[in-house]
Amino acid sequence: MTRKSWNGRAPAGRIAYVDGRYLPHAQAGVHIEDRGLQLGDAVYEVCAISDGLLLDEEEHLDRLERSLGEIGMAMPMARRVLSLVMRELVRRNRARTGLLYLQITRGAARRDHPIPQEPPRPTLIMTVRELDAAALSQRHEEGIKVITRPDERWARCDIKTTQLLANLLAKTAARKAGAYEAWLVDDDGFVTEGSSTNAWIVDAEGRLTTRQLSHEILPGVTRRVIVAAAAEAQLRIFERKFTPEEASRAREAFISSATGVVPVTAIDGVRIGEGEPGPVTRRVQQLYAHRSAAAAAKLAR
Ligand code: PDD
Repeated sequence: MTRKSWNGRAPAGRIAYVDGRYLPHAQAGVHIEDRGLQLGDAVYEVCAISDGLLLDEEEHLDRLERSLGEIGMAMPMARRVLSLVMRELVRRNRARTGLLYLQITRGAARRDHPIPQEPPRPTLIMTVRELDAAALSQRHEEGIKVITRPDERWARCDIKTTQLLANLLAKTAARKAGAYEAWLVDDDGFVTEGSSTNAWIVDAEGRLTTRQLSHEILPGVTRRVIVAAAAEAQLRIFERKFTPEEASRAREAFISSATGVVPVTAIDGVRIGEGEPGPVTRRVQQLYAHRSAAAAAKLAR
């Protein structure tokens, strides 16, 4: 029996890694009582693939280890082995431009809220998805619009958990409003981050601002690479809170995530700067692309 994929078509040759096995998507699955599925008791990572190479792999594995630690779990296998599996999956999927998703759940156990004292074997799932390189570069070139939404997530957004319902609702509201991303606003009226990206603004002096790290935001790998690369390039960065009102007066704005640095041209229908991607955003795009590609090439050797 062939299981159908979400759009009713058998996925064309995609291979997943589930609990030690490489399987075609149609044959891959998890236990019905998996705690990730039933309770969201799981963490995840998303790593970009560019020219067939995994970008910022070490940083993603660092964050994975941290997320697991915060929910009392250990890495399911040695880091070196995990990294080999990731590369093997990219290879088997012949992915050039895409994303690798990695989920680790607490495993399958009788459904009950308390975390089992004798933890089950964790479930490790990995999938690779090819991205439309042309659409991606168009987005990077032309930029996107964002709307703002209340931040309705929990109090530990620094842990990359698969419990994404509030993020999904915000992102869907953005798409319905004709925007690409939603910037989430906390109870005090400050932007935390995007529903799946970090949020940045650039002032008239060309200085970058992004919210400081805390339990309120995900410590983005791309954010971290940008902070390091921008400092090296003598760009000034403030890590502090900003409001949507300050953002709407910014010279430029952008978002960052594993899919790169994307210019923001309007926030809640208000044009940012000239309504076109600005020079500082372009410079950050170049710095990020250069740094990550160099690191990936070094690792691949
Ligand atoms: N999202 N903030 C949130 C809430 C995120 O979900 C993400 C990543 C980021 C950016 O982090 P990074 O630079 O490490 O990708 C910030 C991924 C891409 C996702 O959930 O698909």
